[in-house]
Amino acid sequence: MRLIIYTGKGGTGKTVNSCSTAIKLADLNYKTLVISADPAHTLKDAFMVPVVGNKPIKILDNLYALQVDPVLELAENYGSVLSYVASIFSKRGLDETLSYEIAMLPGMTQLFSLLKIEEFMRHESFDCIVMDMPASGEALRYLYFPKLVGNIGEKFSGFTGVFSGFVKMFQPFSSFAPIPTDVIQIEMNLLKRLEILSKILTDTKITSLRLLINPDSFSIENAKRALMSTNLYGMNVDAVIINKIFPRQVPDSYFTKWTEYQSTKIEEAKTSFYPLYIIEERFYEKELKGIEMLRENAETIFANKDPSRVFYSDKVFEFVKDGPTLILKIKAPFTNKDNFDVNRYGDYLVIKILDTTGNNIVNVIPLPIATITMKLYEVKIREGIIEVTFRE
Ligand SMILES: Nc1ncnc2c1ncn2[C@@H]1O[C@H](COP(=O)(O)OP(=O)(O)OP(=O)(O)O)[C@@H](O)[C@H]1O
Ligand SMILES: [Mg+2]
Repeated sequence: MRLIIYTGKGGTGKTVNSCSTAIKLADLNYKTLVISADPAHTLKDAFMVPVVGNKPIKILDNLYALQVDPVLELAENYGSVLSYVASIFSKRGLDETLSYEIAMLPGMTQLFSLLKIEEFMRHESFDCIVMDMPASGEALRYLYFPKLVGNIGEKFSGFTGVFSGFVKMFQPFSSFAPIPTDVIQIEMNLLKRLEILSKILTDTKITSLRLLINPDSFSIENAKRALMSTNLYGMNVDAVIINKIFPRQVPDSYFTKWTEYQSTKIEEAKTSFYPLYIIEERFYEKELKGIEMLRENAETIFANKDPSRVFYSDKVFEFVKDGPTLILKIKAPFTNKDNFDVNRYGDYLVIKILDTTGNNIVNVIPLPIATITMKLYEVKIREGIIEVTFRE
């Protein structure tokens, strides 16, 4: 079973490329589901079909689509927990509607689409699931809950440990409200599912994240952050799609400026995301949508390759925590101790490598928040890997 997640900044082409990928997978005879949690119901627009709802609907042979309805999912899976937390706020005099807004943690809607995946994975309903996910990494944080809360099995046997999950976060507000047992049960269930989900998402053979960018600095920066944080969470990013590239032969001074600018950004992206698999996708002369156009796009970007392949399976960065030190390991083949230079600027690390043609390759890597209080202690290169050590 394969899970392919597309993420990237708004408008880069996540939805259309999720749909293209899913069509190609279905054509290759994989039973495929494409999932989106976008409240704007964009799957329907991309496929140009009348409806895509909250149950898988058949689009083509082997191809199903589902639009997660976060409100419904929330009510089904988490309703009583949310009501309980909201009731604590509301008892303190907060308006009830506002209490619900506050009780809703950031990234929770995204989390429900991920939990939906866990459900389909559990039932082995599909060979491939393609997910269209907004760029915020908020939801991924919840995957750490089971680890933070500890062994769930133990909690079932001992009642006392129970109050350490989601609800515990709101306990300081509620010295008096007892936690209802159904809330505890739902929370336990949720933690269990999160634990399974976390295993699915960090299994390189199952899950690949693909970054969608356009040849502009905003979407590249966004994707760099996504690459850093997903690597931190232990997820595998296997490819980058650079979408909306203008064809070079546009004979117009306005577009020549754009194509020249895009070329520099394409080069920057290739260095920044080395050694991930890079796909270049041109800006079509009309809006990319409809099954035929999406299928043609998939044929162009994947050519004869199977989109369910794991295109790259190593980590681009690795953070190793060793007591008070944090070591960042970065792959940099063809680099030796004389041809590179590392500097830190705030929460970015700038690595300059002089390549064989005498050009400087510059890679700017966002640093995790944990390094804010740390100093860059030493830089070493070992077997094609740059090791940067930070210390408190
Ligand atoms: N290569 C392309 N050529 C032409 N049009 C494109 C191309 N890629 C995307 N588009 C168009 O750009 C628009 C945005 O694409 P899409 O909705 O897939 O982006 P998104 O990343 O999902 O956006 P959002 O963040 O809003 O969900 C759509 O109208 C789509 O048809
Ligand atoms: Mg979208």
